[in-house]
Amino acid sequence: MIITIDGPAGSGKSSVAEQLSKRLNFLHFNSGSLYRAVTAFLLENKFDIDSMDSSSPIPKISFQVKYENGVQRVFVNQKEYTHKLRDNTISVLTPKVSSNKNIRKAVDDFQKKFTSKHDCVIDGRDIGSFVFPNADYKFYLDCDIDERTKRRLSEERIKNPNITFDEIKKQIIKRDEFDKNKKIAPLVVPKNAIVIDSTALSIDQVVNKMLQYINVKP
Ligand code: DC
Repeated sequence: MIITIDGPAGSGKSSVAEQLSKRLNFLHFNSGSLYRAVTAFLLENKFDIDSMDSSSPIPKISFQVKYENGVQRVFVNQKEYTHKLRDNTISVLTPKVSSNKNIRKAVDDFQKKFTSKHDCVIDGRDIGSFVFPNADYKFYLDCDIDERTKRRLSEERIKNPNITFDEIKKQIIKRDEFDKNKKIAPLVVPKNAIVIDSTALSIDQVVNKMLQYINVKP
């Protein structure tokens, strides 16, 4: 079974996907981590990301995903990038990398192959709309911009104590615009998706709502 969760940056989709997958005993597949891992790989290999456009050729890449206590580990060409995925440099560069069609194809092919063998909750930006339009359940998580900024700020402050609310808010607005306006696989509410606004809800409350839709007792 495949359950998709899409939504903008900071809407809580990864945390919700993690909890939902635990409650259902499914794997949590975070597709953003694959785009982040390719970015870390390209950066490490001195690839010119700034000059990259939507059809630039890319180096040969293969993905490996492993799970340790339910936590996804991501490898590109056999090298692990899990610990680098949340670095702010990676967050800033990944939108550009993820708008390259060759990268998207590599990620999509891997996602489809991997999820064909496992029950998964998969979260991202284009999962219910483009990658799995026929998924068993499709959710779209929305959330107010200030609440999303607060959530991201508390994550970022662990690594960068000086970062401000306004800096994060600007980054989120920029990413929203980029994600919604990109030519390939823009962020949209997938057709027939169940939309949940998480602004005033805890992760548990969102998960319980989803479980009600999936017909499993919360
Ligand atoms: O969800 P996230 O912040 O980890 O995503 C990182 C970047 O990857 C973000 O710019 C959106 C992009 N992304 C995408 O284009 N398609 C996906 N399915 C998942 C993420």
